[in-house]
Amino acid sequence: MLRLGTCICILTVAASCILVSKPALTTDVITVFLTGNELGVLRPCGCSGGQLGGLEGRPAVFDSVPAKRRMIVDTGRLVEGEGEQDLIKFDILVQAFSLLGYDVVNLTEEDMKIAGSLGLIEGIGSLFNIMTSYGPTDANLPTTFTKQFSLKDKAVAVTVAVFDAESPPIERIEKLFVPRPGVQTVNILVLNRSVAGIVSSITKKGIVDCLICPAESDEPALLSEPGKKPLVISVGRFGKYICKLQIEPAKDKGKPKLSFSPIPVKEDLPPEETLVGLYKDYQQLVKEANLIEGIPRFTLPGGLEYTGSKSCKGCHKYEYDKWSTKSHAHAYATLERVGSELDPECVGCHVVGLKYEGGFVSVQETGDLMDVGCEVCHGPGSEHIKTLGKAETTAPRLDCVDCHTPENSGNYTGNEELYFEKIIHWREQKALPDVK
Ligand code: HEC
Ligand code: HEC
Ligand code: HEC
Ligand code: HEC
Repeated sequence: MLRLGTCICILTVAASCILVSKPALTTDVITVFLTGNELGVLRPCGCSGGQLGGLEGRPAVFDSVPAKRRMIVDTGRLVEGEGEQDLIKFDILVQAFSLLGYDVVNLTEEDMKIAGSLGLIEGIGSLFNIMTSYGPTDANLPTTFTKQFSLKDKAVAVTVAVFDAESPPIERIEKLFVPRPGVQTVNILVLNRSVAGIVSSITKKGIVDCLICPAESDEPALLSEPGKKPLVISVGRFGKYICKLQIEPAKDKGKPKLSFSPIPVKEDLPPEETLVGLYKDYQQLVKEANLIEGIPRFTLPGGLEYTGSKSCKGCHKYEYDKWSTKSHAHAYATLERVGSELDPECVGCHVVGLKYEGGFVSVQETGDLMDVGCEVCHGPGSEHIKTLGKAETTAPRLDCVDCHTPENSGNYTGNEELYFEKIIHWREQKALPDVK
């Protein structure tokens, strides 16, 4: 955390000043699209409306600018961990970047490790340019990338370079940006990590026009004061936004002007079909990898066991029938509808006991533990049933908010009463505060 905080502390303008965009008037404007920190989110889960992100929405944004006047850059950190599912996601993201026409992708230390374990380091460069400050020394991978734009009467060279703040000396930055006589230059520096004082040291050098700090939040942020050089930004996380850096070349002598605006990747952007297909490939790979079988599971306390929702029906027919009419009772079918029924990142909240031994494994093996069944809220039923109802149903129970998180249930907070009323399956009147 400390490390991430350093970019912000130095500059007084905080993350709230998003949306500072100056629409440029001339046709000579160059646009650099910046993304990064996907952290494995290829598409938002779709649990509730209004979610931002999804690779298939990116073309609509990129194609708003003609290819010859744009540059597309990803600053890296493609996935979150190193598990089997992360590897699948990494591979899919690499294909996506290729389809999306990325000019250059920065690979962080974590990305390099995964690319290495997938045997991709050699081949990846044929899909798009890569740069990294963590390459194995023998691979000799570039730390910079330059794209030159020929406009009517001038040439502009945009260079993106990467610097690891924990590997001084800072003088190395000067070597990353080559002077180009007769060409207007724009120098963008991606900071893989941040250390105290780094932003002001880089500012003093006067070479960098735009500095990209590690992301601290999902939303992109403009961290420098308007008009000050360099423009200090962070690109956000989880692909919710695409950052647009517009470069207006100088008329005669002088430096190009830069402006920054984050674009939310909204649900209503037309999805690009090839990328929709790629997501289906991803779901298929997840299915084939049988990931649910491999997830780590806790032992239920006190020798308890799950017995399945139908096992309650005999003694609680009224409750069972009521529950069957509510949306919790078709939570698994919902996942089947969207093709994510074998994705461990989805299944946990849509079934009973995924994280416990004896919990949901598959429709074939544990069909009665599909959906948000009785034991999600009342705990495993074995003791209760053995004692014919004398032993109260017990923990582990989940609270509503364990699944109805702000991300997965945007409307929940503030509407708790309403949600509570919608699940009533019991006879006696009960109030929200009784809920354990
Ligand atoms: C194990 C995770 C989980 C827990 C715990 C949980 N829910 Fe849900 N809930 C879901 C899922 C998943 C859905 C979506 C079901 C579907 O439509 O497929 C849902 C849907 C709902 C809906 C329907 C929303 C609508 O407008 O259609 C209500 C209401 C609801 N839950 C209330 C509650 C309340 C109240 C609690 C706590 C007593 C609770 N839930 C606990 C996972 C959970
Ligand atoms: C943290 C728990 C959680 C996880 C993880 C989760 N869901 Fe959900 N999901 C919910 C809840 C809660 C709802 C009901 C939201 C509401 O109505 O407020 C829901 C609802 C849904 C809906 C129904 C939306 C509608 O009303 O038609 C879909 C589709 C869905 N989830 C898909 C997914 C997919 C795909 C994943 C994995 C990428 C996923 N979920 C992961 C909790 C979760
Ligand atoms: C989303 C969570 C949830 C699910 C799923 C759920 N219940 Fe409940 N149940 C509650 C809540 C909340 C109450 C009311 C308050 C309480 O008793 O904690 C309740 C009350 C009850 C009661 C009455 C308890 C009493 O003290 O009078 C019974 C019996 C019951 N549920 C059985 C079931 C059965 C059987 C199922 C499955 C068919 C089921 N429940 C599914 C949350 C749930
Ligand atoms: C053999 C009959 C029987 C079965 C099967 C049974 N119960 Fe009960 N249950 C009872 C009796 C008896 C009570 C006592 C109070 C009452 O009459 O509602 C009770 C009470 C409850 C209560 C309220 C008190 C408490 O324990 O919190 C809940 C909730 C409940 N049962 C849930 C379930 C669930 C969930 C299942 C399935 C896993 C289940 N029961 C299966 C007989 C049964």
